[in-house]
Amino acid sequence: MMRPLSVFRQGSHCFFLLNCMDTDKAFSLPSDPILGIETSCDETAAAVLGADGKVLASVVASQHAVHERFGGVVPELASRVHIEMIERVVMAAMEEAAVSWQSLAGIAVTQGPGLAGALIVGVNYAKTLSYMLGIPLVGVSHLEAHIASAWLEEPEFPLPCIVLVVSGGHTHLYRRDGQGVSHLLGCTRDDAAGEAFDKGAQMLGLGFPGGPALDRLAQVGNHTAIPFPKSFFKKDSLEFSFSGLKTALLYKVQAMTEQELARGRADLAAGYQEAIVRVLVEKALLAGRQTGISALAVVGGVSANTRLRTLLEEHARASGLRLSIPALRFCTDNAAMVAAAGRQALATGSRMAIDAEPFTTLGQPGHNCPERALTKETAHS
Ligand code: KG4
Ligand code: ZN
Repeated sequence: MMRPLSVFRQGSHCFFLLNCMDTDKAFSLPSDPILGIETSCDETAAAVLGADGKVLASVVASQHAVHERFGGVVPELASRVHIEMIERVVMAAMEEAAVSWQSLAGIAVTQGPGLAGALIVGVNYAKTLSYMLGIPLVGVSHLEAHIASAWLEEPEFPLPCIVLVVSGGHTHLYRRDGQGVSHLLGCTRDDAAGEAFDKGAQMLGLGFPGGPALDRLAQVGNHTAIPFPKSFFKKDSLEFSFSGLKTALLYKVQAMTEQELARGRADLAAGYQEAIVRVLVEKALLAGRQTGISALAVVGGVSANTRLRTLLEEHARASGLRLSIPALRFCTDNAAMVAAAGRQALATGSRMAIDAEPFTTLGQPGHNCPERALTKETAHS
């Protein structure tokens, strides 16, 4: 919970000095709009947040049509399409937000993790813009950005809370103590939840990206018709594993004739999905019980899953759990979440250097990338 203490001006920008009650640190959130830019994978996105943190515009240009025929993201193609799209996407966001370039307080850009070539497009574009406008630039972790999406529409969501990040590359459970302060509780030992959805969809002959396609098909299937093993790892463990489930689906598909597969595809999708989401829900609730925290945020592309959202909402209603799941458009990659994470980072004085730094790499821990706070080592050190 933050309370404004005082207001001061720096250059042409006005800042509120805030009292951050949960960490006792003084932050100054920009009182002018922030531009966010995201190019870490196959979405070129730009968004503008107003002085109050509300989303004024969020534009996402998806590259799904480009990568569809390859059945996955082709990094080189992704970089090229980002180069083609970034200018138009940023302009569209600024136009939709109806704010002037001069009124921007800063720019936030995804610094990593992601595809190197794709990240470089966004980072270089943001650096140029920041240099031309003479405004601060901050690099944010893609994970921090997904986490920030839980507060986009619910700024009062409490801390500490449990955060489950479920995306194409991550299945990570955190205890979140303050904005930018996360401690890893557990993560996947093999595939990420999104990866399990994508690979399962591929085995079932569904389109790309697989997650939404499998979600749609599962809605017309019966999740009890074909049972799948649910991997809880060890009792009381907060680690995940989805590779065995993937193999189970492969064996079931291989054992079926074309006709059986055609008839049973929706039931397979529903059973397979159920095995993923039940484990996600169980482990997230277990993390809450183990830490004594009754607030849960679930973020990342997989949080768009219909069955996962239904199960979480049912549980929250029955148990009084405080739950935050972003609106669908903020679950998958977008720049509003980048701007939100950047807004917090700018407030703490974090800045990305505009000068060339030949001996640092993108997302390198310690180089103002909050990724460091997201590692197990940090949590234990
Ligand atoms: O967060 P995101 O857009 O990108 C990464 O940071 O990875 O997540 C993408 C992942 C993909 O694996 C995609 O299949 C999955 O999220 N996904 C879904 C759904 N929508 C996206 N998985 C299950 N159900 C969905 N409705
Ligand atoms: Zn993502």
